[in-house]
Amino acid sequence: MTLSVPGPAEAMLRERCELDLLGEILPAERYRTAIGGADALLPQLRDRIDEEALDAAGPKLKVVSNYAVGLDNVDIPACTKRGIYVGHTPDVLTDATADLALTLLLSAARRVVESDREMRQGRYLGWMPDYLLGQDVSGATLGVIGFGRIGQAVARRAARGFSMRILAYDPVGVVRAGDLDVEGCSLDRLLMESDFVSCHVPLTEETHHLIGKAELASMRRTAILVNTSRGPIVDEAALVEALQSGEIAGAGLDVYEREPEMAEGLAECVTAVLLPHLGSATWSTRAAMGELAARNILAVLDGGMPIACANPEVAGSS
Ligand code: DGY
Repeated sequence: MTLSVPGPAEAMLRERCELDLLGEILPAERYRTAIGGADALLPQLRDRIDEEALDAAGPKLKVVSNYAVGLDNVDIPACTKRGIYVGHTPDVLTDATADLALTLLLSAARRVVESDREMRQGRYLGWMPDYLLGQDVSGATLGVIGFGRIGQAVARRAARGFSMRILAYDPVGVVRAGDLDVEGCSLDRLLMESDFVSCHVPLTEETHHLIGKAELASMRRTAILVNTSRGPIVDEAALVEALQSGEIAGAGLDVYEREPEMAEGLAECVTAVLLPHLGSATWSTRAAMGELAARNILAVLDGGMPIACANPEVAGSS
């Protein structure tokens, strides 16, 4: 287990296993040495579980239980080939992450961070008709890119709470609206028609730089881009240019291409609201993620598969 997490995970695992808590994110080489001989791994999203790590862990390894819903740090095909289950933490963080996406959307639209700065710096000199004007949220069009659990939860909040019109595009799936009034469409149309664009796709080779220079250019000049998924979905240098030139009105970012760093110039973009990867950062969500990650491990040690399993086909391969 790389880091201690809130909630019962550690106690659950200590009851059944010999738990080696690393206590820090180690450089890859030291991580590989540390995990030798493990039956199970509970990595953080900053640990890379690739072929080399799997070699280093050795033949006893049965399950990699990622403390995240995103699995871009885990080489799933390599795990599957070796008969190693991959677990992750979907569902339990959907609401917290959707809440944060809306927080970013509202903050960027109504210039909350800029305004807070004005107050603290003593620059508020009294009410003015044209002071710090932003974009309307209620009744605006929201484009949701990636219509999985989190994308749908964002759409539900936007439609029900703010009467927004919802357009959705999913690069891998059909957009199923369920009980929501959602129109599935192409990425081009979504970008051209949306006042707000919110990204909720997993990071894969196909989604890397899904939003680049051309896509930013096709957005409205009044539009705001929100990203709570993974940084490399957006070409960050192109986004900085788009913000600097006023090609789009603003951005709300929780994730970055090279975390914890940001692209040059982003910190100076006043129309960007910038958070340090906090989508799931509530006490109860982080505890629930830990509990699920621990249960994923225990289920495998009991001879089953992870409760939330990314490669169930491993079951048929042994
Ligand atoms: C995830 O789970 O993938 C988030 O980025 C961290 O909670």
